[in-house]
Amino acid sequence: MRYYIEDLSKHVGQTVELKGWVYNVRSSGKIKFLLLRDGTGICQCILFKGECSEDSWNQFEKLTQESSLRVTGIVKEEKRSPGGYELGVKDLQIYHVAQEYPITPKEHGTDFLMEHRHLWLRSKRQHAIMRVRSEIIKSIRDFFDGRGFTLVDTPIFTPSACEGTSNLFETTYFETKAFLSQSGQLYSEATAAALGKVYCFGPTFRAEKSKTRRHLIEFWMVEPEVAFNDLYDNMELAEQFVEYVVQRTIKNCPEEMTAIERDTSKLLNVKAPFPRLHYDEAAQIIKKENPEFVIGNDFGGTDETIISSKHDKPVFVHHYPAAVKAFYMKRDEKNPDLTLSCDLLATEGYGEIIGGSQREDNLELLLERIKEHNLKESDFQWYLDLRRYGSFPHSGFGLGLERTVSWICGLPHIRETAAFPRLYGRNYP
Ligand code: 4AD
Ligand code: MG
Repeated sequence: MRYYIEDLSKHVGQTVELKGWVYNVRSSGKIKFLLLRDGTGICQCILFKGECSEDSWNQFEKLTQESSLRVTGIVKEEKRSPGGYELGVKDLQIYHVAQEYPITPKEHGTDFLMEHRHLWLRSKRQHAIMRVRSEIIKSIRDFFDGRGFTLVDTPIFTPSACEGTSNLFETTYFETKAFLSQSGQLYSEATAAALGKVYCFGPTFRAEKSKTRRHLIEFWMVEPEVAFNDLYDNMELAEQFVEYVVQRTIKNCPEEMTAIERDTSKLLNVKAPFPRLHYDEAAQIIKKENPEFVIGNDFGGTDETIISSKHDKPVFVHHYPAAVKAFYMKRDEKNPDLTLSCDLLATEGYGEIIGGSQREDNLELLLERIKEHNLKESDFQWYLDLRRYGSFPHSGFGLGLERTVSWICGLPHIRETAAFPRLYGRNYP
């Protein structure tokens, strides 16, 4: 019967069949060693002359790195084998002898690896990152599903902008123009009025002509929206959420974290409550270390690092100036130049992972904002309806999945967080 390497511990002493790819092969006289990779793990398979079929013994010589094959043998406990179990091979059958594999154990440049991303994914490190990403997605869904939120998907083709017009991807929609979604938020505000607590989780797009270690062109965002939550409820939800995702991921992915060489002790203190800084306080701290910073502006990467380096927990900055934030944010009644916004800055210089706010729920004020931002009122009639029919205080936020994966895994660049990242200047493979 066919088994997966990760399940071998349950089958010691039994004869099993494994299917996978060659990770490495070597021979020494009457013994041949094969490291077999099947996606769930790596297993050392051993052939002894006379104990396996003669055909298998001869076939072994054809095996090259990444050749695909099927092996049958007896499972043994063996501490020196990568997963702790070894296969004493009786039979081996080749599916395909791989051509000379372009990725070798020697160092390759980033461009070369990105060009071969479809193959690079087979490496131990990339494999581990994809597993962590998958676990993070599961934990995100479990957090909201477990708290009575309803997942409501929002469209990717949209008629208007959510996060400003400067980085919109334009496409055609039959006879009209359409834009790829920058955020599902505006739609989630509508579904929150229908379902109370909702979240959307899907791909979003930003035509950002910048090559930084934090920016992707296509990224996934999870966006909860909660009816009757204010700014402070919003931050509380966000900190509980981030604690849950981080702590569960490091608990469930110890092997992956070892493969990535992530020092997870740096994440142990990511527990609610998180420190909260008013924008004015944060701006003063930044100004001291970066005299170029202009108070009133949005923070750059270095500015965020100045704030986050002072803490071993993520930090909220709230009440950003309206001038640097989106049209839909509610203003502070005491100072209408400020918004009821909150960004969450991750530790270790990973920067903003969450952007959120309380939303403007007053029809007249929202109409003013739409004009101020030079947006087309007719595009937003449906959104304005939410302020015409039972307007309600509400808040939400968006967490960037890939920035979170990058941070939790401690990666030097966001490009390794997606199987096929879309970057400025790269749309292949
Ligand atoms: O701060 P942003 O632009 O907020 C919104 O889109 C809101 N509508 C969310 C909401 O309130 N529902 O983006 C939210 C998060 C950022 O904090 C960051 O983690 C991620 O999305 N993000 C990016 N991640 C990778 N590459 C990019 N180019 C990103 N732009 C934003
Ligand atoms: Mg933001």
